[in-house]
Amino acid sequence: MGAANRQIARGAVFSPVSAPAGEIATLGWFVLGVAAAIFLVVFGLLLYSVVRFRARASDEPREPAQLYGSNQIEFAWTAVPVLIVSVLVLTTIRTIYDVQAAKEPPGALHIRVIGHQWWWEFQYPDLGIVTANELHIPLSDSAHPTPTWLRLESADVAHSFWVPRLAGKTDLIPNKINTMWIAPHQTGTYLGQCAEFCGTQHAMMLLRVIVEPRPVFDQWVAAQRLRVPSQSVEPHGRQVFESNACVSCHAVRGTSAHGTYGPDLTHLMSRQTLGSGVALNTPEHLKIWVDDPGRMKPGVLMPAMNLSEKDLDELIAWMVTLK
Ligand code: CUA
Repeated sequence: MGAANRQIARGAVFSPVSAPAGEIATLGWFVLGVAAAIFLVVFGLLLYSVVRFRARASDEPREPAQLYGSNQIEFAWTAVPVLIVSVLVLTTIRTIYDVQAAKEPPGALHIRVIGHQWWWEFQYPDLGIVTANELHIPLSDSAHPTPTWLRLESADVAHSFWVPRLAGKTDLIPNKINTMWIAPHQTGTYLGQCAEFCGTQHAMMLLRVIVEPRPVFDQWVAAQRLRVPSQSVEPHGRQVFESNACVSCHAVRGTSAHGTYGPDLTHLMSRQTLGSGVALNTPEHLKIWVDDPGRMKPGVLMPAMNLSEKDLDELIAWMVTLK
């Protein structure tokens, strides 16, 4: 949704709520300060020269005296930039090293992030949870650090995981595993965006990170571990789901659907958005989405299901029970 773009446009990189985004923002301000100082000096000298040495009516119509070669001036305009660039390089290397060399503490949470065209799969291997597009993680306070360690992979093309208020971008590359970590110190919902062009719907490969106090996160985990009860409500809708192509791409634990090509739908209604952030997750949007997802997200890999109105209504009535 547009909301994600607005937040990024507001300069979210400069309002970090997590390590390592904090360190990166500090470095960003420093580099911006140095660049601003250089800009002011250069522009100030330029402006001074333009005003002070502009042509006057009383000037004789000839070129001013030309100066050739000055060792002192050439030395100064070589040495000063070299010094400035060295300072920028060293501070940048130090920040990158600090971020990459961080040791994983014992309390760290492990998450496998898999980029797909055009959605995010989040697996919590230690907790037995699979979800999509909305990443729940616990708050990490300095007394009891519980950072989240992300293992980034791609199922198809290159993507990039970027939640500006939490951390810098890290690419998800086919046949390669990248890692990154985040240790948020403020609860809330933080918006992110795929930051590597990955096809038609790259711009609508949005994500949310929901940072919760540990007890709330633990409740979420417990709810996500539940399976769909076998004596299901809305049995007709469930039947429509299980007898259509839905099951070859989607999984709903507790049913015969074990597909892994699309998002796991076991707890679909616990998510705020549909189609990786393309619309709010309401029954009305869900109905449009299932009927023909290309209307909301042109180019999406999920086909239009072409169900009868009756089947569609029953299917949605069952899907909204997947809490
Ligand atoms: Cu995934 Cu851009």
